[in-house]
Amino acid sequence: MRDVTLLDIFEHRIAQKYLNRSGLAHAIAVAYHAFHLSKEHQLDVDIAAKAGLLHDMGHYTWYKNGKWDYDLYKQNDIHPIKGAERAHKLLIRLGENPIKAKTIALAILFHTDSFLPSNDIVRTPLQQVVKWADEKDEEEGGMHHYRTIEYERAEKSIIRLDKWIDEEYNH
Ligand SMILES: [Fe+2]
Repeated sequence: MRDVTLLDIFEHRIAQKYLNRSGLAHAIAVAYHAFHLSKEHQLDVDIAAKAGLLHDMGHYTWYKNGKWDYDLYKQNDIHPIKGAERAHKLLIRLGENPIKAKTIALAILFHTDSFLPSNDIVRTPLQQVVKWADEKDEEEGGMHHYRTIEYERAEKSIIRLDKWIDEEYNH
């Protein structure tokens, strides 16, 4: 049994706010990729899917004169740090197992090298899987953040993924 489902997370207003900001369609796609990759590598599918869903929730809006400013973003972005912290807070609030919450937060923290001065982190298999899952859904010029999905369809996708995770947990 899991303490928190993807649907619990998805329905929370904090998740709604930040998932919509960085692209709900991308978040769901990465959760699915993370599920499949973690299953393939015999890792915890629930932890991987949750980290996938929440990995970009730390994004800030770097706008200048109403337009996204890529240079400002590159220079100042710390979204993996913010995302790790936001996800951890949300998960604990929802009643997540604290060991799981920490593992998910760390996977979010290390899902990209973009904010680090060097790219020499040694990742755990789970952290690597979340990074790959994100890269699988990346589009040129950050377009993956702008893909949209209807609420009902998103909700259905989340419920289906929850079902798959439960099936993995039950056998
Ligand atoms: Fe991403």
